[in-house]
Amino acid sequence: MNLKFYKLINYLSVKTSLLLFKQRLPLGYVLFNYLYKKIIVNNISFNDEISDFHKSGFVKLKLNLKNEINFYKDKFFFKDEEKDVTKRNKFYLNDTDQKNFLNQLEEKLKPTISTLERYFNCDVFISDIVPFRIYHVEGSDNLKKEFYANNFHQDGYLMIYNKIFINMMDVNEDDGPLQLVPLNNKKEFFKSFKYKNRDDYDPFGNQNLIYKNSGSIGDCCLFSSPQVIHKAGIPKNYRDLIQIILMTIPKKYSYQLNIDNYKNVFSGNEKNIMKLAKPYNMLNLIKLFIIFIKEKRNKSKKNIQALN
Ligand SMILES: [Fe+2]
Repeated sequence: MNLKFYKLINYLSVKTSLLLFKQRLPLGYVLFNYLYKKIIVNNISFNDEISDFHKSGFVKLKLNLKNEINFYKDKFFFKDEEKDVTKRNKFYLNDTDQKNFLNQLEEKLKPTISTLERYFNCDVFISDIVPFRIYHVEGSDNLKKEFYANNFHQDGYLMIYNKIFINMMDVNEDDGPLQLVPLNNKKEFFKSFKYKNRDDYDPFGNQNLIYKNSGSIGDCCLFSSPQVIHKAGIPKNYRDLIQIILMTIPKKYSYQLNIDNYKNVFSGNEKNIMKLAKPYNMLNLIKLFIIFIKEKRNKSKKNIQALN
C-alpha cells in the first residue's frame, strides 16, 4: 500500500477512535482489544493483582528486585559513543551478565508470568529488556516538543504487548515517576485535561486523576501501555529504570522469531515485536485474532485432559 495513503488512513482511524472511544489507537486495535477482553481473557477473580490489572490497566506487583538490581548495579555501563546527557541513555551489560540477569529475572517473574498466561489464555515471554537513564530536560511544558515520551499517550500496539517498569533507584516525586491514568479515570481525564491528542491537551488538568509510580528501588509496575494513557515524568536530576516488554503469543510463533533468545532480548527485539503486536492491515489483525481463539481452545482442551 502506498505509504502516504496508509498514513492518511491511520491518521483518520486514530482520530475516530479518539472521538468515539477516547483511545489514541487505530480503530482496528480498539476493536481487537475489546474483543480480546470480552472473549479470550480468563475469569479474573483468581488473583487480586490480575483483577486490578484488568480494571485499571496497571498494577504495582507484590514483588521487589532490590537484591538483583544492587548485584548488577556496578555492572551496567553506558557506551561512550551513545552518551547523551541531554535526554536518555541506555545501559548495557556484558554477554555473561546479560544471560545471568535474564535467568534471574525469569525466575523472579515466573509467578507473574504464569498468572498472565492464565489471564491471557496464551503463552507470555520476556521479549525485551531495556535498562536506561532519563535526564532532566528544560522546556518540557511545550507539548509540541517531546523529549522521551513525556506527553500523555498510549503505545501503538495491541494489548498482547505489556510492560513492567522496575525502579533502579528509590523514586520520589522529584525523580519524575511514570504517570498513569487508570482506565476507570479515562473519561474524566479526557474532560479535565481537554485531551485531543498527544500534543494537544491542557497539562494542568485534575492531577488527582493520575497515578504516579513512585516507590523503592526494585519495585515493579506492570502496565498495559497500549490501553493505559501514560507519560514519563521529568526528573529534577535523573531517573534509572529497567523496561521489560512481555509479549503474549503462542510458543510456536515466539520460536519462529526466536523472540526469547537472550541476545535478541537485550539487543532490541523491536522488529519482531512489531511484526506480532503492530499489524498493518485488517486481514493480519483478523488472522492474529483467530490464532488467539485457537490457542484458547487448545489450552482449555489441555486443561480438561489434565483433569481427567
Ligand atoms: Fe509509552
